[in-house]
Order: sequence, then structure tokens, then C-alpha cells
Amino acid sequence: MNNIAAIILAAGRGTRMKSLTPKVMHTLLGKPMISYVVDTVRGAGIADIVAVIGFGGEKVKEFFKETKVRTVLQKKLLGSADAVRAARKEIKKFKGDILVVYGDTPLIKKETLARLAEKHKSSGASLTLLTTILKNPTGYGRIIRNTDGKILKIAEEDEAGTHKKEIKEINVGTCIFKAEDLFGPLAEIKRDNAKKEYYLTDAVNILSLKAKKIDSMAIDDLSEMIGVNSRKELAEATTVLKNRTADELIASGVTIQDPLSTTIYPGVKIGRDTLIYPNTVIESDVIIGKACHIGPFAHIRPGTRIGNKVEVGNFVELVRTEVQDFTKVKHHTYLGDAKVGKNVNIGAGTITVNYDGKNKNRTVIGDRAFIGVGAILIAPIKIGRRALVGAGSVVLKGQNIKDGATVVGVPARILQRRKQSRRREDEKPPISLQR
Ligand code: UD1
Ligand code: CA
Repeated sequence: MNNIAAIILAAGRGTRMKSLTPKVMHTLLGKPMISYVVDTVRGAGIADIVAVIGFGGEKVKEFFKETKVRTVLQKKLLGSADAVRAARKEIKKFKGDILVVYGDTPLIKKETLARLAEKHKSSGASLTLLTTILKNPTGYGRIIRNTDGKILKIAEEDEAGTHKKEIKEINVGTCIFKAEDLFGPLAEIKRDNAKKEYYLTDAVNILSLKAKKIDSMAIDDLSEMIGVNSRKELAEATTVLKNRTADELIASGVTIQDPLSTTIYPGVKIGRDTLIYPNTVIESDVIIGKACHIGPFAHIRPGTRIGNKVEVGNFVELVRTEVQDFTKVKHHTYLGDAKVGKNVNIGAGTITVNYDGKNKNRTVIGDRAFIGVGAILIAPIKIGRRALVGAGSVVLKGQNIKDGATVVGVPARILQRRKQSRRREDEKPPISLQR
């Protein structure tokens, strides 16, 4: 979007989180909540972004450095207006519109930001506020209008008298100003309120007294406006995000049997006709193919790649692991840093010992291998194609089990060469593996 700069306010302490971690760095399904805000602002096409940091500066600064967003430090946390003032030196020459977004409102959609910017531009207002009506508006700034519906001011919770507390229309926090109508009023804001903070929302009254046009846009989807101030609200935001993610997957052809008990992180890719059973957790950076069965009670962690028609059953944990087509990992198994070929059967309770206390080591299992129940595979190891590992075997590290070999025992020793199958390797899988 042309001629729009954004200020992200992320300096607040987040007292109500009761945490040593700065509020905006608390994670929401695998990523810090602030990263959703940055993605949304960028997704709306705004490239010129300044973030205001303060409490827990180093951690937050590091995050913004990685995402290539420039930052300014708010030295004392004197309120949202003071935070915008801190950003001023970074964008004072800017002449267009300035979007202000709060770092603790991570669920706003990019389409909403784009619509807000559009409305602001077409109405020619000095300021356009994003608002909504809440049954229970406690904690949010209330929009005070005159009898003609003109916006006069925003009353914060602590200054809302009893009659104002009945007002259900609230300030979402996201707003867009003409640059001169933001920096002008900033100087006039006082901190004559209970919190002794400079409230950005006081700019509304200042602009209204100057007869400037203040517009508003109602948010479409109520869930977008959740401001995360406490862990309860963090849990609410998590539920909303989880449902959004599940809805998108369901719409794309994935069956999620029980969305309520299933947690799938945003960005996970799952192919059509895959069935996710209840109580499954699928974290970020996971790709699952078509027609797989996953769960119940599966935990699929980052860096996992699953092919087509794979079965991952109950109490299976996979991390940084590739599982290729038609393979079955059906019960009580942990595979970490492994590469498992096609048509492999991993017996119940198989464990890869991928961590030796210092390094994470790889396990490679070839196509059509058969791993017996309760095998312990101490990485790094390589198990050849069509090799067989007997039930309860412990395969020691550094072993390279040849194609077709059978190993058994503790520690596992070679028993015999498995008979060459008449089936050619590149042929279709046996009937039982086809679905
Ligand atoms: C704010 C709004 C309120 C709105 C609500 C929506 C003000 C005064 N009030 O209230 O009208 O309904 O959000 O969620 O803005 N911040 C700084 N520096 C500071 C203080 C705050 O950067 O000195 C940042 C915080 O990190 C946060 C944002 O400003 O991202 C809002 O501050 P917060 O204290 O959470 O305001 P609320 O009480 O939630
Ligand atoms: Ca807040």
C-alpha cells in the first residue's frame, strides 16, 4: 500500500501476564504474538514499519532485527501516546497516513487493515478508528459519540463513569491517522488519568475539539479484536487461532474428526483426504501428504515431512523426521532426526535414540524395512532396504545394516540374509498397504 507507514506499539510491560517474558514475546501456537502483527501489517502491503520497544528490550529487539523491522526505544513506559512520540523521530518527515497497531492484538486480519486504510483514504478523515460492539466491554476503551453519532472521545476503563460503562462500542486499538493529525495532537495529550499515562486515545478528543473528522469502521469478525493482556486472553486467542487454522484445512479437504481436541499450528500443510484423529498436536513446519491417517494422540513436531498414505498412530511422536509413502508408524513410537523410506513398518514402541547428550544423530531406514516391536535404534545408524530388526533388539550406534539383512538381540547381531523377494522394488506395495 502506497503512502502508509505503520507504528507497532510493543513496549508495554504486560504486568497482567505476571511474567518475566515481555508480553509480545509470549508464544501463540509456536510463534511470538508480535510476529503475527508484523506478518499482518506486511501482508496488508505496508513496508514502512517502525516498532516501539521498551520492556525486555533486548529480546524484543532481537526479534525485530530478525524480521528486519526497525525499532525505537521508549525509555520510560509512559503510555501509548508517549510510545508513538518515541517513534516520531523515525518517521517525522513522512507525509502520508500512519497506521498504529498494538503488539498485543495479534488476531487482526490483513484484509481488515486494508479495508481500514481504504476507508480512511476515501472518507478523507483525520483519524479512522477500528471499533466493535461487545456484550462485555470491560477493559476496553469506550467510544463516546454525540446524539448525531459523531465521535467525541474515547473513555478508558479507569475513567469511564458508570454511564460510560454501559457503552458497548469499544476501541479495538488499531487506528489510522493523517500524519499531521497524529503528531500535532500528541504534544497536547496530558496524563491526568488514574494510570498517570499518556493515552493515545486522548488524541480523539483533541481532534474532535478541533472539528477534525473522525471516522470509524466496525470490525467484521469479533475474534479479531482480542487484546492479549493476561494469560486468560492468551488462551482465548490461542483457541481462535487454532479454530481458524483447522477451518482452513477442513475447507481444503482434510478431515479433522474432533477439532476441539486437535491443535494444528498455522502454516502446517496437509494433503487432501488425510484424516486427523482426536487429541493430536501438529506443530509448525510440518508437511503431511494425502490420504494419511494421523493419531489419535499423535504429536508431530517441527521439521517433519510425511508422504502420502502414511499411518501415524496413537502415542507416536515425530520430530525432524521424514516418513515416506505407505509407511506405518502405528503405536507408541518416537522417531527423531530420522529418515524412513517407503512401505516401512515400524513396530509398536520403536524408539530412535537420537540424542547422545551432545549431538542429535540421524537414523536412516530404507524402503520396505521391517522394524520389530520395541526396537531401540541408537543413532547414528543406517538400516538397509528390506532389512529386518527383530522385536526387542537394540541396534548399536554406528551400525550399517545391509539391505535385506536380519538382525536380532541385545545388542543386535546379524541372523541371516532375508530371502530376496520375488517382488521388484519399484512395484506397487502389497495389497495390505494399499488403500
Ligand atoms: C488499549 C487502548 C484501549 C483499547 C485496548 C484494545 C490506550 C490508552 N487504550 O488499552 O482504548 O480498547 O488497547 O486492546 O491505548 N504500550 C507501549 N508503551 C507504553 C504503554 C503501552 O508501547 O508506555 C503498548 C503496549 O505494548 C500495547 C499497547 O501499547 O501493545 C496498548 O497498551 P495496553 O497497556 O495494553 O493498553 P490497554 O489497557 O489494553
Ligand atoms: Ca492491551
